[in-house]
This record gives sequence, structure tokens and C-alpha cells, in this order.
Amino acid sequence: MRRKIVAGNWKMNQDFLDGLRLANAILAQAPSWANQAVEVVVCPPFVHLHTIASMFKEQPKLKVGAQNCHHAPKGAYTGEISLPMLQSVGVDYVIIGHSERRQYFHEDDAFLAQKVQATLQAGLQAIFCCGEPLEVREQGQEEAYVQAQLKAALSQLPQAQLSQLIIAYEPIWAIGTGKTASPEQAQAMHQFIRGVLAQLFSPEIAAAMPILYGGSCNAQNAGQIFQQPDVDGGLIGGASLLAEDFGKIIAQRIKPA
Ligand code: PGA
Repeated sequence: MRRKIVAGNWKMNQDFLDGLRLANAILAQAPSWANQAVEVVVCPPFVHLHTIASMFKEQPKLKVGAQNCHHAPKGAYTGEISLPMLQSVGVDYVIIGHSERRQYFHEDDAFLAQKVQATLQAGLQAIFCCGEPLEVREQGQEEAYVQAQLKAALSQLPQAQLSQLIIAYEPIWAIGTGKTASPEQAQAMHQFIRGVLAQLFSPEIAAAMPILYGGSCNAQNAGQIFQQPDVDGGLIGGASLLAEDFGKIIAQRIKPA
């Protein structure tokens, strides 16, 4: 059975105190899924990571992730954060290649390939994001687009570390827009992605790799999306900033399909 994961991407939201309040409210819900087959990952801004990781320490199903990293272990990269630094404050996951990083910070496939490789090498879990812009979907080219993203960033990875890799499919037209992909659209793309992973790695590895959906996923629509056979969980933006909604989304993931 594949791992089920719900990850919250806070993006550049929550000052320190608000962040701690939100983390506390999520922590208070943790006993309700402590014995369930689900991993919950909270990805706050860098400045919150150390404190929130300490708060979550006693809850094995509640983990902390970073929203980005640099691939070099250390050095003259002003403003960057390395993987050993993240590890030293209790971070277990890193989101890599979010469309906002690609678009606003010009992170290209070759750069992202280095980050994924370094993350797995460091022993952390990588949540690698892919997904097409609206015009690509309107032209019916979304599969080719996503396939190219996956091939470019993932084809050089060592097989031994692939159990640390998680894919997040996030169609750009659905992120923060309130326009979610339909459960059928999500399933079709997730199934396609699994096929690409089977070609890149092996059918066994593809069958075991979690693929999360992201893009306006919320407490109302998560249930239907999570029922799709190739959707293993969600990467949640806006709705992860409200502890109650985030909890409802987690509850949808726990429900048997
Ligand atoms: P959203 O963001 O849920 O606010 O659409 C998802 C994401 O960008 O990870």
C-alpha cells in the first residue's frame, strides 16, 4: 500500500507568532490521526522551522518541511539555506520546484534536478512539484509538458534513494485560483505520471511512489479527489492556513476509499 500524505504549504504567510498559533492548533488535532495511515507535513517559512519542528517532536505522524533549499552543503550563496542546516533544525521534507519558484525565481529543470538529487542524498524526503500552465492545457499538451518536467529533473536519480521521493501534481491554473482540477482530471494526470515514473525507474517503484494533488484543494473537494486510485494525498496551500480546514482535509485522507 502506498503512503498517504497531506502536506500544507504555508508559502510566505504567517508572522512568527501567528505561525506558532497555527502550528499549535494543528498539533492539538494530531492525536486524532496518530494511529492512522497518514503522514502530515507542515511547510512553514524558514524562520518558523526550528520552533515548529521542536513542537511536533513527540508526534511521529506530524512532520516539518521546508519550501525550498539550496543544493550545496555550504558556501558563499548569500540568502540561501542548505540541506544540512534544515536537517540540523529537525526538517524531514523539502518542497522542490513549486511553480512559484519556477516562475518568479526562474528555477529551471537543471537547477531543480540538482536540488532533488542533493535532497535525497542528504537523507530528506523531496516533494517534487510539476504541473502545466493554462495555455498548455488549452492546447491539449499537458501530458507532454509534465512528462518533460519529470524527465528533466528526475532521470538521473539513484534507484536506492527513490523511496524518499514524492511527486506533487499542481496544475498552475488551479493554484490559488479556486479552480480545482476535477477528480477525473486529477486521476488522469496522476495515472499518466505513474506511467512516466514506470518508464524512468521501474513499474514497482512507480507503483510505490506517492503522488499528491495540489491546486485549490480544500475541505469541500478533498474527499472526491482523494478517492481517485492514483491520488495519494494533497499539497495544500490556502486551506492549510486554517487549522480546522486542514484538519478536515486530513480526515478526508484517512477515510477509506
Ligand atoms: P492552493 O496552493 O491550495 O492555495 O491552490 C497549492 C500550492 O501551491 O501548493
